Amino acid sequence: MGSSDRYELARAVLSRIGHAVAIVGASHGAERSCGTGTCMYVSLSPAMIAIAEHTGSRTTRLIRESGEFSVSLLHETQQDLAAAAGKSAPGPDKFATLGIRAAEPPAGLGAPAVDGSLAIVWCRVVQTLPTGDHLLFVGEVVSYLVSDAKARPLLRFGRRYARLGEATSEESPEGYPT
Ligand SMILES: Cc1cc2nc3c(=O)[nH]c(=O)nc-3n(C[C@H](O)[C@H](O)[C@H](O)COP(=O)(O)O)c2cc1C
Repeated sequence: MGSSDRYELARAVLSRIGHAVAIVGASHGAERSCGTGTCMYVSLSPAMIAIAEHTGSRTTRLIRESGEFSVSLLHETQQDLAAAAGKSAPGPDKFATLGIRAAEPPAGLGAPAVDGSLAIVWCRVVQTLPTGDHLLFVGEVVSYLVSDAKARPLLRFGRRYARLGEATSEESPEGYPT
């Protein structure tokens, strides 16, 4: 921990937490932004999702200003999009700058999402918690879309993108809902 590289531990250990790759979207006024990241569910009923967003990003600011966010779970063919959205981009509308086709939010919501994703959830922020260099946003799912196609998720493990391997059990043998 006495290292001059403040991300050493994150690179060594946190990168071993395999996860689904998502794009988090938010908007306020004329600004739209998005960032690559991940999410976890923190309640099943009502369905709630948490995301950790670093304090300096535009996406974080737009989530704070609007009280909403979208999470687009990417499928394995969307890796280029994950790499592009993982960096800041110029202009007020990152979707336009990167040429991302936006899935328009349902009525009453504003957060843009990524069209053609494996699944999209739209959330209203119900809790915000400072966590070190990030803010944890807990959102209640207020709308969602699930792709009909038998698409496979884009994953991340060990600082690499990856595809899902083979299933090693039947569907939900222990009755858990996810
Ligand atoms: C694989 C990957 C995972 C990332 N995960 C997160 C994350 O969980 N939270 C976060 O704040 N940024 C994360 N980032 C970085 C953001 O995507 C990046 O800061 C982005 O530029 C934010 O967009 P903005 O600056 O337009 O708001 C990740 C980037 C990559 C490539």
